[in-house]
Amino acid sequence: MIFEVKNIVKYFGGLAAVNNVSFKVNEGEIFGLIGPNGSGKTTIFNLISHFHSVTSGNIYFNDMDITTLKTHKINHLGIGRTFQIVKPLGRLTVLDNVIAAAFSKAQNKSDARKIALETLEFCRLDHRKDILAKSLSIGERKRLEITRSLATKPTLLLLDETAAGLNPTEVDEAIDLIKKINDKGITIIIVEHIMKVIMTISHRIHAINFGQTIAEGTPQEVANNPAVIEAYLGEQYAHS
Ligand SMILES: Nc1ncnc2c1ncn2[C@@H]1O[C@H](COP(=O)(O)OP(=O)(O)O)[C@@H](O)[C@H]1O
Ligand SMILES: [Mg+2]
Repeated sequence: MIFEVKNIVKYFGGLAAVNNVSFKVNEGEIFGLIGPNGSGKTTIFNLISHFHSVTSGNIYFNDMDITTLKTHKINHLGIGRTFQIVKPLGRLTVLDNVIAAAFSKAQNKSDARKIALETLEFCRLDHRKDILAKSLSIGERKRLEITRSLATKPTLLLLDETAAGLNPTEVDEAIDLIKKINDKGITIIIVEHIMKVIMTISHRIHAINFGQTIAEGTPQEVANNPAVIEAYLGEQYAHS
């Protein structure tokens, strides 16, 4: 086990956005997190990376309690993330965007540049390295977001809707890239609405609704769970 959240709770004013959620993630796993809009998925990522503090509960990474550590420290320990709302530095080139991210681990500018170029090649974005980030298509922007998070050399990567807004070809490319990242030994927690993505690549899935756990299991178990079907999937996704 590489990662655990234990009884995490997050209140925004009177609203329990996350209400007593617990799960464990094994090393090398792709762990899916699903739920309707507003069910607390992004908030869970914000708690893990400490953009927000938990109201209560604990978060463990490699058996260390990281609940109160600062965001940069958590990233330095090896937890990388993407953002649902992609915010590249539009006035910088693609390469400079990735170099800026690589500095979280790199010793110096040439080291950061080397990491950035390698990561761009790995993510098949190297042919776009010299253009401004704001000129990228949505699909390329999502890929840049993954490239930036990978350049921080995470061992655990949190992906928040990185396939949203992609066309079918780009969705397949995103699936390939996520599998390739996982093949490097990087553990992944993925939030995704596109069922093809989440059901194809997740080893296990944790489903939430209104901030609370409703199911956990293999993709097939979760897809056939009555509470998940009612809250989220609708009958059309149920299969045997
Ligand atoms: N910074 C915030 N301040 C107040 N409420 C928030 C904040 N972030 C999220 N929420 C609320 O918490 C709930 C869960 O949101 P979110 O985690 O973004 O859901 P999801 O990612 O599953 O769509 C929603 O009701 C949302 O409005
Ligand atoms: Mg979200």
